[in-house]
Amino acid sequence: MSQESIYWLNGQFVDESKARVPILTHSLQYGSGIFEGIRAYETPSGSSIFRLRDHMVRFLNTAKIYRMNLGFSLEELENAVREVVKRNNLKSCYIRPFAFYDDDHVGVGTTGKKVSTFIAAIPFGKYFSEADKGLRCKVSSWHRIDSSILPIQAKASGNYLNSVIAMHDAHESGYDEAILTTRDGYVAEGPGENIMMIKNGEIVTPGKESAILLGITRESILTMGKDLGYEVRERLIHREELYTADELFFVGTAAEITPIVNVDGIEIGDGRTGKITSRIREEYFNVVSGKNQKYSAWLTTVS
Ligand SMILES: Cc1ncc(COP(=O)(O)O)c(C=O)c1O
Repeated sequence: MSQESIYWLNGQFVDESKARVPILTHSLQYGSGIFEGIRAYETPSGSSIFRLRDHMVRFLNTAKIYRMNLGFSLEELENAVREVVKRNNLKSCYIRPFAFYDDDHVGVGTTGKKVSTFIAAIPFGKYFSEADKGLRCKVSSWHRIDSSILPIQAKASGNYLNSVIAMHDAHESGYDEAILTTRDGYVAEGPGENIMMIKNGEIVTPGKESAILLGITRESILTMGKDLGYEVRERLIHREELYTADELFFVGTAAEITPIVNVDGIEIGDGRTGKITSRIREEYFNVVSGKNQKYSAWLTTVS
């Protein structure tokens, strides 16, 4: 058996070393790739993918927004994801579907260019090494891109330059992560994760009008939060509300549920992971690892 990772590339399973793209590919030059980030977890029924359909619908919607014809149906792509996890013998992993212009010319236009799609799966642990003790965040001077600039519900590579520069700014200043605001100064989200605040026992998070990516984890937590009996609110959040929040945390496929314990040098609550954050985090891990049957419809088993 091959020791190399196996990728799905345009309908074929190929060894990593055979999966090649032209160096001048348009997506490398101009950031025109589109992608998804999905996790699979080990569950009592074997490896299971969390909210596979929702991720693949978003992937196809991103393709539609950018007029990229992948040439594969939702079901074909879902099956390919499951098969990649299976063939690589992975239990808990990160899955990256990606589509790009498989082209070797210089020129920004994409009309008529060939599109290629691949799916990779890799072992993956925590996204933040500080996930257990909580993050120190900086409100970035870079604002979150908005709909007047780029389609923000599309997960396109180019959008992430906004994330890259905000993260760079936070890291250079000695923080673990950035928090981006809208051009009006309201809280938007992290560079690759949504943000939630606990205030007076309620779960509060920025809504659609705050230029956020409407994350699948965010929606899962809002549903689970309601089911746990919390009031859940989507509304504009002022920057200073972060400082006086009882608890703060990030949510996202990669970030999972990660507490934030400090913003701009100001301690949040008592500077430790809050009780409600811990409860939601525990519940989330129970759900993704198949220990809570209530949400079993969110899991797709691999075999
Ligand atoms: C900018 C941004 N916001 C939020 C999220 C969280 O979204 P999801 O929960 O769907 O992974 C992500 C990750 O995909 C992201 O890149």
